[in-house]
Amino acid sequence: MRDGKRFAKGGGQELADSKPGDQDKDPRGELSIRVAAMPADTNANGDIFGGWLLSQMDIAGGIAGRTYSNGRAVTIAIESMTFRKPVKVGDVVSCYAELIKVGTTSMTYRVEAWALRSDTFVREKVTEGVFTYVAIGPDGRPRRVPRDVEEA
Ligand SMILES: CC(C)(COP(=O)(O)OP(=O)(O)OC[C@H]1O[C@@H](n2cnc3c(N)ncnc32)[C@H](O)[C@@H]1OP(=O)(O)O)[C@@H](O)C(=O)NCCC(=O)NCCS
Repeated sequence: MRDGKRFAKGGGQELADSKPGDQDKDPRGELSIRVAAMPADTNANGDIFGGWLLSQMDIAGGIAGRTYSNGRAVTIAIESMTFRKPVKVGDVVSCYAELIKVGTTSMTYRVEAWALRSDTFVREKVTEGVFTYVAIGPDGRPRRVPRDVEEA
């Protein structure tokens, strides 16, 4: 199996299905990064700054896109972003990426962030968003991505 194919859930253009009710129980997609939230990442309220979290999610989706496309990939669009719950200093944030659409040169991922709370050790979904990446070649121009996506 080519590296990164496991980020996919199905064939064709629109790849993701959705199981209403299960979405807050378990992460969807493949673990891409895990990082601890530090005091330097806080906002004026003392919670973790949304921009930091967005950045982690973008990094996570970008890793998935590079793995899937076997090369460089850049963010072209962030189509939605929902901050459900605050992240606190000391929480361990895990970002999961699920490939939901493959185009000619683009890959769209649903990215979720889950926080493992430092006080309770309960895991909660804190954010989710939809990120699109374009595979690029050495010249910085779009290049084709593989379309041989199989059922996960
Ligand atoms: C990525 C980049 C090379 C694409 O160049 P381009 O000339 O716009 O390319 P195209 O118009 O051919 O579009 C490429 C793909 O992006 C998709 N795309 C373009 N705009 C989009 C948008 N707003 N949302 C989702 N997908 C989009 C196109 O549909 C196309 O996908 P497909 O080939 O799968 O059909 C160029 O836009 C770029 O360098 N952008 C800056 C990227 C960057 O710096 N990102 C980091 C930001 S901090």
